[in-house]
Amino acid sequence: MNLKSFHRRSLDEREAFWAEQAALIDWHTPFERVLDDSRLPFTRWFVGGQTNLCHNAIDRHLATQADKPALIFVSSETGEERVFSFAELHREVQRMAAIMGSLGVGRGDRVLIYLPMIPEAVFAMYACARIGAIHSVVFGGFASHSLATRIDDAQPRLIVSADAGSRGGKVVPYKPLLDEALGLGSHQPAAVLMVDRGLAAFSRVAGRDLDYAEQRQRHFDAQVPVTWLESNEISYTLYTSGTTGKPKGVQRDVGGYAVALAASMKHIFCGRPGETYFSSSDIGWVVGHSYIVYGPLLAGMATILYEGTPLRPDPGILWELVARYQVSVMFSAPTAIRVLKKQDPAWLTRHDTRSLRALFLAGEPLDEPTARWIAEGLGRPIIDNYWQTETGWPILTVAHGIEPTPTRFGSPGMPMYGFDVRLLHEQTGEEVGNNEKGVVAIVPPLPPGCLQTVWRDDERFVKTYFSSIPGRQVYSTFDWGIRDDDGYYFILGRTDDVINVAGHRLGTREIEESLSSHAAVAECAVVGVADTLKGQVAMAFAVLKDPALVAQPADRLRLEGELMATVDRQLGAVARPSRVHFVTVLPKTRSGKVLRRSIQALCEGRDPGDLTTIEDPSALEQVRAAVSPA
Ligand code: PRX
Repeated sequence: MNLKSFHRRSLDEREAFWAEQAALIDWHTPFERVLDDSRLPFTRWFVGGQTNLCHNAIDRHLATQADKPALIFVSSETGEERVFSFAELHREVQRMAAIMGSLGVGRGDRVLIYLPMIPEAVFAMYACARIGAIHSVVFGGFASHSLATRIDDAQPRLIVSADAGSRGGKVVPYKPLLDEALGLGSHQPAAVLMVDRGLAAFSRVAGRDLDYAEQRQRHFDAQVPVTWLESNEISYTLYTSGTTGKPKGVQRDVGGYAVALAASMKHIFCGRPGETYFSSSDIGWVVGHSYIVYGPLLAGMATILYEGTPLRPDPGILWELVARYQVSVMFSAPTAIRVLKKQDPAWLTRHDTRSLRALFLAGEPLDEPTARWIAEGLGRPIIDNYWQTETGWPILTVAHGIEPTPTRFGSPGMPMYGFDVRLLHEQTGEEVGNNEKGVVAIVPPLPPGCLQTVWRDDERFVKTYFSSIPGRQVYSTFDWGIRDDDGYYFILGRTDDVINVAGHRLGTREIEESLSSHAAVAECAVVGVADTLKGQVAMAFAVLKDPALVAQPADRLRLEGELMATVDRQLGAVARPSRVHFVTVLPKTRSGKVLRRSIQALCEGRDPGDLTTIEDPSALEQVRAAVSPA
């Protein structure tokens, strides 16, 4: 079958196509309808069918590979290495599910998971999936304010956390941030389950905080049957950034997600049962959900959960793991490769990576020099793939499981089956031609696996994603794209205020709100600026209530440090601006809109564009002066 006709059929015969894919998973009760699109842009897949993610990822494989590895935990931070077979994982998940049950967590209840990359995170996610609770994993790099916003929105009955993580050899305590977040927000969970790794001492709140090891012992022999869920019940929410300061809870279903992941493992990632999959992402991001936790196990593969950086104990660690566990499919981010690119290329060949069929990279643009460097250095196929938290699996890539398709440097590839991708003119909504820039949009219904809605905010779902292109109700990715004459797409950056720092998606508004919470700041603007290592970095411009505060260079440095520390404390170091520049006025239009694109252009040494609407031209001069080398 050829990729283009496979794609065509997925749109022309949508229901027949997805009914076939649905056979990749087990159904407890068959679905009555493949697709209900009577209330677009809301979509329901496999209506009436009952299934379960945990059953499909774990229980289903017990008959054939109970003793084969399922979860391989490696921490280059603590030196731990533990392998759980499918049977062992099955037992651990049931223990965790029993603990949850004993704490009153049931179907539809939320469980917030704030954990480092440790096996208990995977147990907790699958335990939720098993009993029909809704998990919401918060990235461990986020700090108290980010955590508090998410706790208040998700309203979890239970929070699962740990004493600490470790990064680059440094212990990163989690519990104090969690306690601070619970102090900041209004919602209080009934219980906090604490995994004590013995890395950092922490205080316990009596009656609320429970010890995981103790609870696990208590439920050691627990058997918790799978709760069969209707396909459209909620599996999880995962918060992601957008244009406003308030993160959105991307909400996903059960059946559609399971089918979408199983299909992608077959057609795109080409993973086979008994093999090992290794993604260097984090469970706090969508790649971690889809391609560390769920996808590989759905396909009967083992998955590696890696706590550590690509550089420690040495820059060969990723390839050492590939060799040690005979990894056949690997997933990473361009940033990780750019970090390795600064090291001796001999590290790429020190270990035998011949087991690897392909290295998939996603999350940010893969620049050509980086793609060439890794392709040549590793000697394995490199496959770029483009998608979003919202879609859950690749929108654009190549699918070697369907047809071996040549890749093109700089392009993630072509639309995947199920995605009716169009490039639209931002203002008119008309389709643009080949080699013309347009907004990457998807005509609904979105395929299985994509977000159902924004958690508890249907209106925001419709308004944010389906109302930005004039005259038509299509899903906007908020990315610019272009298509060449052969159908390959190229992604040219975001149309909104989202930035991408080292593969981490961040909203500039959230950073602005954090900076503005400092008493000295009157207003500020944050933009993303191109960076050779991280893809983009955040750059801030602040107007102070009293400009005299930074009269001396030493004052400026001190306040800049204070503002960065504010962001570290509230959002986490991932969101920290690389610089905070002080100006007396921000460039704005006469109607008061901050000219972020002009500021960004100046920071990148480009032309600031059309300035006919600017209120005070001297404001841009201040930005120019601030960022030009002294
Ligand atoms: O701007 C695009 C960029 O990352 C955004 C989505 O980020 P997130 O929700 O964290 O999901 C990441 C899932 C891999 C997109 O809107 N992006 C993602 N992949 C690529 C990309 N930009 C260029 N090339 C890619 N392969």
